[in-house]
Amino acid sequence: MAEHAPAGDQARLAEPMRSRWSPSVLDPGHELAADELEALLLSAAWAPSAGNSQPWRLLVAPRGSGLHDALVATLSRGNSGWVPRASVVLVVTAQTGRAPDDEKDPTPTALYDAGQAAAHLTLQAQATGLHAHQFAGFDKAAFADAAGVPAWHTVVAGIAVGRWLPVDERVGPLAVDPRDAEREERPRRRRDLAETAYADRWGEPWRR
Ligand SMILES: Cc1cc2nc3c(=O)[nH]c(=O)nc-3n(C[C@H](O)[C@H](O)[C@H](O)COP(=O)(O)O)c2cc1C
Repeated sequence: MAEHAPAGDQARLAEPMRSRWSPSVLDPGHELAADELEALLLSAAWAPSAGNSQPWRLLVAPRGSGLHDALVATLSRGNSGWVPRASVVLVVTAQTGRAPDDEKDPTPTALYDAGQAAAHLTLQAQATGLHAHQFAGFDKAAFADAAGVPAWHTVVAGIAVGRWLPVDERVGPLAVDPRDAEREERPRRRRDLAETAYADRWGEPWRR
């Protein structure tokens, strides 16, 4: 199979949103160049945030690092096959509590801001020929413990980044779990806009 085509009216979007999707079969031999990784981190850093508070942190776990090993130990069963093959995993945290030296409460939009930083990183990956697949299925308390995340930060999600492995390369040592291969073939759908975009008042569908 070649790269996924945009699904349905996703084709109407501008790049890289048009082509973005979350693959579950990544190349376990691919490594990111240092400047690619730095550009990913910068794309998150340049995301907008409330009052420019930048309340997220990214824990950088390249495959083979101690932090990566610690993350892999916390993965849910459904994620334990595909996430370890990513070239790097970025674990996103958001400051949702008050640090000991803080004079103010944390920004109430910390989780929103962290999600926006993650979205920017995901799109930067797609625009530069990489793929990103976010995941929340891991033991966040165990990861926070292993990585020394302070109590005032919430571990939100991981972003697995790597090179998508085309179907014709999935042989020999690069063979994949059929469950992960099958997951990629599931239809990608979205709610109708009438369900998520309202006009005049709550529940009244926006119409073009
Ligand atoms: C916060 C968040 C958590 C997610 N958790 C998982 C996960 O644990 N495992 C997984 O395989 N995919 C996970 N996903 C990926 C979604 O299932 C995927 O983005 C969604 O099905 C839409 O598919 P698409 O990204 O290809 O458009 C997660 C995505 C987000 C944003």
